[in-house]
Amino acid sequence: MFLKRMAFMLGASALALMNVANRAAADLPGDYVSADGTISLPGNFRTDLSHIGSWFVPEGDASGFHDVFAQADAVRHFRAHGEFPDGTVLVKELRASEAGDYTTGKGVHHATPALKQWFVMIKDRKGRFPESAQWGDGWGWALFKPDNPATNVAEDYRTDCIGCHLPARATDLIYIEGYPALAP
Ligand code: HEC
Repeated sequence: MFLKRMAFMLGASALALMNVANRAAADLPGDYVSADGTISLPGNFRTDLSHIGSWFVPEGDASGFHDVFAQADAVRHFRAHGEFPDGTVLVKELRASEAGDYTTGKGVHHATPALKQWFVMIKDRKGRFPESAQWGDGWGWALFKPDNPATNVAEDYRTDCIGCHLPARATDLIYIEGYPALAP
């Protein structure tokens, strides 16, 4: 009985130590990553992050505006050092667009309330989650859909994401020409 209880207590403290070790190993990516590497969509990104730039895609599934956000601290760091600091969060929001005639001109495009999806990348300079298919090549990779914004539906960044980002390899897989706010 006593031995059993000792074994249980040892087991429990080993587990507690492992949790601490996991958190220490996971020490990073701020508030949007859990100890096991699960990425969540920063719910408050429109007010708490800085808008660093937008893309306009004229046609296809991804058509509309792609608005990109990052932490103000990450922007300041990039301006000073030319690289994204550990824990940088990039959120790309896709919105449908409409065009109309305005006092500025004809066929003026604006975003609509219709949300398509959110892409998220989180900078990981330490390779913290080598077992995860959502982490690698220096980033965590996530995709959230409006019908379930709580769940990352990107299964494997190697098939879901990186192929399209390889042209931007020289700039850490990020299309930085779209983000004039990062210029010094
Ligand atoms: C069809 C190609 C394609 C796929 C697939 C793709 N991306 Fe991208 N992504 C791009 C392009 C091109 C841009 C910049 C221009 C734009 O948005 O049209 C971009 C921009 C981004 C940005 C803004 C930062 C940057 O790199 O400019 C994030 C964040 C992002 N993608 C994350 C992801 C994640 C996560 C996945 C996988 C779940 C993914 N992308 C899959 C092509 C793609």
